[in-house]
Amino acid sequence: MPVKAIAISGSPRAEGNTQILLKRCLDRFKTAGFETSYRSVGTELVKPCIACGKCGQMKNRTCAIRDDAFHSIFDEMLDSAIIVVGSPVYFGSATPNLMALLDRAGYVSRANGNLLSRKVGGPVVVARRAGHNFTFAQLVYWYMINDMVVPGSTYWNIAFGRTAGEVVHDEEGIKTIDRFAENLLWLAQKLHS
Ligand SMILES: Cc1cc2nc3c(=O)[nH]c(=O)nc-3n(C[C@H](O)[C@H](O)[C@H](O)COP(=O)(O)O)c2cc1C
Repeated sequence: MPVKAIAISGSPRAEGNTQILLKRCLDRFKTAGFETSYRSVGTELVKPCIACGKCGQMKNRTCAIRDDAFHSIFDEMLDSAIIVVGSPVYFGSATPNLMALLDRAGYVSRANGNLLSRKVGGPVVVARRAGHNFTFAQLVYWYMINDMVVPGSTYWNIAFGRTAGEVVHDEEGIKTIDRFAENLLWLAQKLHS
């Protein structure tokens, strides 16, 4: 069975900068024989966590809130060895739909014996001008509290771009993301060979 990798975008723009960065990562994983999946929560409403605690009471590895986007993506996350998330910076933060997904995924995981433990991954972030580092840190916090393993790169995983597609001109940003993808692959291959 091939090892799986998922990339999840928080951008509402199809063919936008976040998608470009995430697909570069997936292309590398695919070339190495991984089964890859690209998902976006940019235009689908992901309801926020309502702190009902049912994931802890039921211990059924799922979230009691019903919305299609969460459940199908969370199932894929549980099946994947690599989980990469990407977000544009919106007013200095990751997009709300992505955070709603991650809040719920993290809470269900932690309430059920840390389902995300030792999965490999990390965030990639794109913005026109500023707020990359806050958003990068915001997303790294999610990985760290969920007992996941985040490799480094030659810089933080950020890139510059405003209009859809502009990110390809950020040479250093692209190099950083490519190295990050290589490191994810290197690590996942060691863990799953
Ligand atoms: C609501 C909104 C808020 C934004 N806030 C910021 C910001 O705080 N800093 C910044 O540099 N760019 C900001 N941007 C620009 C986007 O981060 C930038 O266009 C990015 O490339 C979009 O990525 P995408 O093509 O993947 O959607 C904002 C864009 C929108 C629509």
